[in-house]
Amino acid sequence: MSRNGHSNWEIIKKSLKNSFSILSVSGLGYIYSDAQRSLLERIFWKIIMVMMITVATWHGIHVYSHYTERAVIVTLDKAYFNWKLHFPSATICFADLKVNRELKKLFDKLVTKFNISAEFDEFLQYLNDLAFKNYTNYEDYKPYADGLKLEYLEPKHYMEVLDEAMLSFDESLIKSSINFPLREFRPTPRVFTEIGPCIVVNPNISIYYTPKYFNSDDTYNLYKPIYLTADDIALFTLKKLHSFNNGNIYFHFHASNEVMEIMDRKEVLPHGVELNVRYEADIVIASEEVVSLSIKQKNCRLPYEPSKKPLEHSPFYSYNLCKFECRMKIAMKHCKCTPYYYRRTAKEPICNLTGLYCLSKYKSQLIYTNDSVVRCADCPQNCNTSIYRMYKVKEIESLQTTLTTTVAFPTTIFVRSQMFSRIDLVGKKLPFS
Ligand SMILES: *[C@@H]1O[C@H](CO)[C@@H](O)[C@H](O)[C@H]1NC(C)=O
Ligand SMILES: *[C@@H]1O[C@H](CO)[C@@H](O)[C@H](O)[C@H]1NC(C)=O
Ligand SMILES: *[C@@H]1O[C@H](CO)[C@@H](O)[C@H](O)[C@H]1NC(C)=O
Ligand SMILES: *[C@@H]1O[C@H](CO)[C@@H](O)[C@H](O)[C@H]1NC(C)=O
Ligand SMILES: *[C@@H]1O[C@H](CO)[C@@H](O)[C@H](O)[C@H]1NC(C)=O
Ligand SMILES: *[C@@H]1O[C@H](CO)[C@@H](O)[C@H](O)[C@H]1NC(C)=O
Repeated sequence: MSRNGHSNWEIIKKSLKNSFSILSVSGLGYIYSDAQRSLLERIFWKIIMVMMITVATWHGIHVYSHYTERAVIVTLDKAYFNWKLHFPSATICFADLKVNRELKKLFDKLVTKFNISAEFDEFLQYLNDLAFKNYTNYEDYKPYADGLKLEYLEPKHYMEVLDEAMLSFDESLIKSSINFPLREFRPTPRVFTEIGPCIVVNPNISIYYTPKYFNSDDTYNLYKPIYLTADDIALFTLKKLHSFNNGNIYFHFHASNEVMEIMDRKEVLPHGVELNVRYEADIVIASEEVVSLSIKQKNCRLPYEPSKKPLEHSPFYSYNLCKFECRMKIAMKHCKCTPYYYRRTAKEPICNLTGLYCLSKYKSQLIYTNDSVVRCADCPQNCNTSIYRMYKVKEIESLQTTLTTTVAFPTTIFVRSQMFSRIDLVGKKLPFS
């Protein structure tokens, strides 16, 4: 199309020339309006212009990609006297079953319930095998895979039987055996973990690995965070009951928005020892303005992100739960079953001991969630993360086995803060924004 013999291009050029000559910015005027300038000089200014536009464009793209991908930086906050932190959860595991007298009673019950044809001793050996192995030693199940040892339970009954056979803090005794900070009362339910049956103290996300919630996505209303401020003395004590065996107790403190996994470091409370420890916390929290950003922008994930399914197997997201899903995928791929302690979908059978023996061949792939054929989804970190480091204060022999921990209040906290906001993209000083 043309008008007055001019092509569209001519019109654009003319109007550009016009606007450039009006604009007094950056040497544009020199190029187009001042006829006195030499050709060389005009070429020089044109090169400068092209360079500037390139830099500006590059910078714009850079800012934009920072906004979409790295809108968040981590800053340090030292105003600790203002913080209200959550008291951690603890996963506590026993190294032995209930005392034999109680197990015998259980055995008699199971013999009729599940039609078990075994001697008590054989069954006891079987229960110990079932309860205390993990990814690092599933190869010990070889005799079961070879048919040299017999399985007495169906995989669907593992949890129910282990729950009854393992030590726990009897409901009526909780108050005297575990003391929470600030005299709070909390339930301490059984929890199934990658190292077997344990109990969980002050559970939040872990609740989905307790028998009651294992097959349910219901919300758990009993959880009320125990808040800590710099003024509180966060003392947590655990007394081993006299009805327990002589085995060790293992414990791991973690954030309440996380569950324990096999790679986590466990501390040991030996029998007949009074142990006094101190925990120091490294805490990362997400500031309010970061919470509403996309997962990619904040580079971390909340337990619940609006309009996004948390995980296939759990109604909440956490970094370790995401790893569990990867391990389940690897287990399904190679052995066509998943261990009893993972929440499952209808398509995922529970491994019997032969299945767990199969998993031992993929030990490092499972532990490090790194398999050459199974592609797992990326697992972003939790937006709020805490790591608890333990220091021994005192360890003495004693008739009463006790653990006393204090949780030191941190004096520095890492805050995920927003560096770029949408406003920064258009520039804060624009008069019309
Ligand atoms: C993160 O932790 C802070 C401090 O404990 C808390 O105020 C905030 O609600 C937490 N955010 C999430 C998403 O849990
Ligand atoms: C119980 O097990 C025995 C052998 O293991 C079998 O002969 C019997 O039929 C079983 N009884 C029931 C009720 O399943
Ligand atoms: C796995 O089990 C073995 C023996 O039962 C134990 O020594 C080891 O500490 C366990 N691994 C973890 C990570 O708990
Ligand atoms: C975890 O705690 C938060 C409050 O801090 C609560 O809203 C949420 O429902 C709890 N989740 C579970 C599974 O207990
Ligand atoms: C274990 O599971 C596999 C696969 O489901 C099955 O073929 C096998 O018979 C089971 N072994 C025992 C001892 O139940
Ligand atoms: C994953 O495993 C492969 C070998 O199978 C190894 O080369 C690679 O370094 C591992 N990656 C990580 C992150 O461990």
